[in-house]
Amino acid sequence: MCGIFGYTGKRVVVETVLQGLKRLEYRGYDSAGIAGLHGDQLLFCKQVGKIDTLQERVQSEGMVLDLAIAHTRWATHGKPSDVNAHPHFDASGKLALVHNGIIENEAELKQELKKKGIAFTTDTDTEVIAKLIGWFYEGDLLRALKTALPLLKGAFALAMIHEEHPGKLIAVARQSPLLIGVGKGETFLSSDANAFASYTREVIPLSEGEVAILTASSIQIFNASLEMIEKERHELDMEIAAPTKGSFAHYTLKEIFEQPQAARNALLSHCDEEQGVAIFPEFRVMPLDAEFIQRLLIIACGTSFHAGLIASYSIEEMARIPVTVEIASEFRYKQPLILPGTLVVAISQSGETADTLAAVRLVKAQGFKVIGLCNVQGSTLAREADETIFLKAGPEVGVCSTKAFTSQLTVLTLLSLFLARYREMSREEGQRFIKELYQLPNQIQRILDQSDEIERIAKKYAHLSEVFFIGRNLMYPAALEAALKLKEISYINANAYPGGELKHGPLALISPESLLVALTAHEPTFDKIQSNIQEVKARGAAVLAICYEGEKRLEARVEDQLFIPRTRGVLTPILTTVALQLFAYYIAKERGASIDQPRNLAKSVSVE
Ligand code: AGP
Ligand code: GLU
Repeated sequence: MCGIFGYTGKRVVVETVLQGLKRLEYRGYDSAGIAGLHGDQLLFCKQVGKIDTLQERVQSEGMVLDLAIAHTRWATHGKPSDVNAHPHFDASGKLALVHNGIIENEAELKQELKKKGIAFTTDTDTEVIAKLIGWFYEGDLLRALKTALPLLKGAFALAMIHEEHPGKLIAVARQSPLLIGVGKGETFLSSDANAFASYTREVIPLSEGEVAILTASSIQIFNASLEMIEKERHELDMEIAAPTKGSFAHYTLKEIFEQPQAARNALLSHCDEEQGVAIFPEFRVMPLDAEFIQRLLIIACGTSFHAGLIASYSIEEMARIPVTVEIASEFRYKQPLILPGTLVVAISQSGETADTLAAVRLVKAQGFKVIGLCNVQGSTLAREADETIFLKAGPEVGVCSTKAFTSQLTVLTLLSLFLARYREMSREEGQRFIKELYQLPNQIQRILDQSDEIERIAKKYAHLSEVFFIGRNLMYPAALEAALKLKEISYINANAYPGGELKHGPLALISPESLLVALTAHEPTFDKIQSNIQEVKARGAAVLAICYEGEKRLEARVEDQLFIPRTRGVLTPILTTVALQLFAYYIAKERGASIDQPRNLAKSVSVE
């Protein structure tokens, strides 16, 4: 899920492009590169490592360009290295190209090109694209693209320049995001509109194999058959301030501490206290008349999938509507049976997760409408969903999702209330529920105020190589999310199990060196989770219990406890997760991990 940025115009090109690229670093950061034209010369600089390292080198070399493309990489084909960093070139060295996506038939194409005497210098699929276009190039770049592009299998976004086409940026997008920023006497290209939003709000998203030829003063767009077309321009209404860490050591910590505000933003304009209902003024039409919604299908990946799992408990409990939650990368390869009366909800913080987008397209192709839950305006999900609820959590830079998760759960709880009030829930019950929802930001703050205690406990366990999490009912998906946080940012092998499943196998892994984190704040199953704690204690393991404030029943039985405010059951996963986000953060900090940009990961998984 690399990041692509391009620019042509009156600004200092190298500086503008590298600043834009920095805004895309969340998409991948194992290597970076820039290529541009200066007069009739194609110049480039690329290397393993982060964009700052590239910037230092480019500045020291005093690179000056008339236009440029740049790339920050998350490797899929070929390890992170100087030679595998983008840009990649055709055989003549006159075409430079950067790429986001995967070419699924790169091996066959590479074989064919080698038979024609084309030599390769990298292990990437991207180089195959450049060499293929170069093979067909005889002076007309559009014609070469018309021949080469249909041979490529897979989803991709490309930006390229050619020595024989000065002043031109060429862009191609097939199921990977690429947006044109339309300025006055300047044109931008980016994987994410946020990266140029401070220069222009006028955006043209490319899609479905479209090709664009951009100059500082002109934009030509062609459809997949390379016939010239007109495309609608969108006006971006989005935050343009480049996020900063402020006084926090990491974006991740800052975003954990922004969660009271994220919850407030999610509640804002979504509650009618008088009627005791949730409202969604952003809906042009409810994709399905709420009275006729017979079931929900939630589709997502990673943390967003965990939010969907938790929501399935609250929707079924409150609205008595069956909910199916699917991992997008699995769902899209099933022959899904979606029954009439199904409301589909796609959850994606970035709005660019390739598997979630593919699942949305599959569902829409079957005639179903989709509600998108998303945190990025102008994202592909926001464009393709029939209705979108924006989380308004503010840009989430840390690769591990925190405030977006809290915001997702808050909005999904509101959706539960919305549906429940169409069924059995009375107005008075709805009014009471909203009052409890309004407590959420302050309750989150009370957990954040315990950060020193959480850090103290985290340091005790930071040396471990594996940690077990258990929960029951909706605390099981909360345990999945807590384990994912710890995995992602500390690299500890953390896994979560339904409490009742321990004795069906995982208990074999428990030893006196183990730590079990028990998510106990679910009254109906407390006695059962307490028994699970006993099973583990009997094998000598240590236990950290996350409990409601005032819980005394575990005092003498566990090594450590963290306390969360008592609240309605469906809101407890949010509070438990905030405590365990901090637990994961302080362990990762103690271990000196790269918390904001963990190894091998990226913030937006826009490849399959
Ligand atoms: C969450 O901490 C991870 N970074 C990852 O699992 C993430 O939730 C997943 O890639 C889905 O991202 P999305 O919400 O942007 O679709
Ligand atoms: N497949 C390309 C590479 O490995 C791009 C990867 C991506 O978009 O993440 O360099």
